[in-house]
Amino acid sequence: MAELKNDRFLRALARQPVDCTPVWMMRQAGRYLPEYRATRAQAGDFLSLCKNADFACEVTLQPLERFDLDAAILFSDILTIPDAMGLGLYFEAGEGPKFRKVLRTEQDVAALPVPKAASDLGYVMKCVSTIRGALNGRVPLIGFSGSPWTLATYMVEGGSSKDFRHIKAMMYDTPEVMHALLEKLALSVTDYLNEQIRCGAQAVQIFDTWGGSLSDRAYQEFSLAYMNKIVAGLIRENEGRKVPVILFTKNGGQWLESMAETGCDALGLDWTTDIGQARGRVGHQVALQGNMDPCVLYAGADRIRAEVATILESFGAHPGQVFNLGHGIHQFVEPEKAKVFVDAVHELSVPYHR
Ligand code: CP3
Repeated sequence: MAELKNDRFLRALARQPVDCTPVWMMRQAGRYLPEYRATRAQAGDFLSLCKNADFACEVTLQPLERFDLDAAILFSDILTIPDAMGLGLYFEAGEGPKFRKVLRTEQDVAALPVPKAASDLGYVMKCVSTIRGALNGRVPLIGFSGSPWTLATYMVEGGSSKDFRHIKAMMYDTPEVMHALLEKLALSVTDYLNEQIRCGAQAVQIFDTWGGSLSDRAYQEFSLAYMNKIVAGLIRENEGRKVPVILFTKNGGQWLESMAETGCDALGLDWTTDIGQARGRVGHQVALQGNMDPCVLYAGADRIRAEVATILESFGAHPGQVFNLGHGIHQFVEPEKAKVFVDAVHELSVPYHR
C-alpha cells in the first residue's frame, strides 16, 4: 500500500499535533456537484452508482479534485445492510429511500438473515479496495455504516419518517422484538465495518442519524448500547496504524459523555452543540468532529469565513479537532461555497497549531 502523504485527519483523531485543522464534509460526494450528477446519469441511478466500483470510485474522488479535503469517504449508503438482508431497497425521485418489504412483527425479525459482509456485500468491499488503490496515499479513506437504531428506523418504517410511529410502537410495545432486531443489526454492522477495514478503510464513522429522536433512557438502551457493542468488536489497528472510530449521533449533544465512554476515538457533533463546551466535557477522552451548520454555505464568503473562525476559536488551541459540517452538505449549495469553507479552515486554523 502507498504511504499516506497527508495524515492530518488521522493525527487529529489521535489528538496529535497537526500543522492546520483537517477538514472533510459529510456527503462531500453528491448532488451539489454537477460532475456527480453526470456520473450518476451515466450509471443510470443512485444504486447502480453504489454497485459499480469504477463509478463509485470516480464520484468519491470528484470532491478531492475540486477542494483541498483531508479525507475521502467511501461512496455508498447506510441502507446497503438492510438491502442485503433482503428488504429490497429502492429510491423514488424526491421521496428518499424505500423498501419493498417492511419489518413489523416478531416473525419478520426472526426470519431476517444476518448477511456476511465479505460475500453478500462484496460489491461495497470492491468499492473500498478500488478507491483505496486510486487514492494512492493522497488522503485517508473513511468507511462507514448506519447505527443499528438508525438502520432499524428505515427498516420498520419502510423508508424515511417524520414521527417514527411504527418503530416506536415496536420499541415500547414489544421491546424484546426491538432488541432482537438491534442485536442482528449490531452483528451485521460490526462484520461490515471490519470487512471495510480489512479492504482498506483507515477510519470508520457510525451514522446515528435518528438517535436524537429518542428519550434519554431510550437512547441509552436502544441506540447507544448497540454502538457500544460495535465499538468493542471493531478492528482497532491495521497496517501498523490505529483505525479510529467516530460516533455521530445527530441531535446527540446531551449524550456526549456516555458516547465517549464507548471507547470510540471521536464524536461527530451537529451544529446545535457548542464545540468548545463539548471539548470541556469530553475533550480529555476523545477528539471532536464538526460542526458548522450546513446552511451557512448559503451565505456569502465573508460570512462562511466568520463562522469557521468562530468555531475554531471556540475549540481553541488544542489538538483533537477535525473540522466538518454538522450534517451533510445540501444539494442546493454552490460548489464554490464549499471551496471557501475548506480553504478557510486550513488558512484560519494555522495560528491555533503553532
Ligand atoms: O458522505 C459521502 O459523500 C458518502 C456517501 C453517503 C451517502 N449516504 C450517499 C448518498 C453517506 C455517508 C450516506 C449515509 C446515509 N444514507 C445516511 C446517514 C447520514 C445522514 O445523512 O445522516 C442516511 C440517513 C442515508 C439514507 C439515505 N440515502 C437518504 C435519507 C438519502 C437521501 C434521499 C434523497 O433523495 O434526498 C439517500 C440517498 C443518497 N445517499 C444520496 C447520496 C449522494 C443522494 C442520492 C442521489 O444521488 O439522488
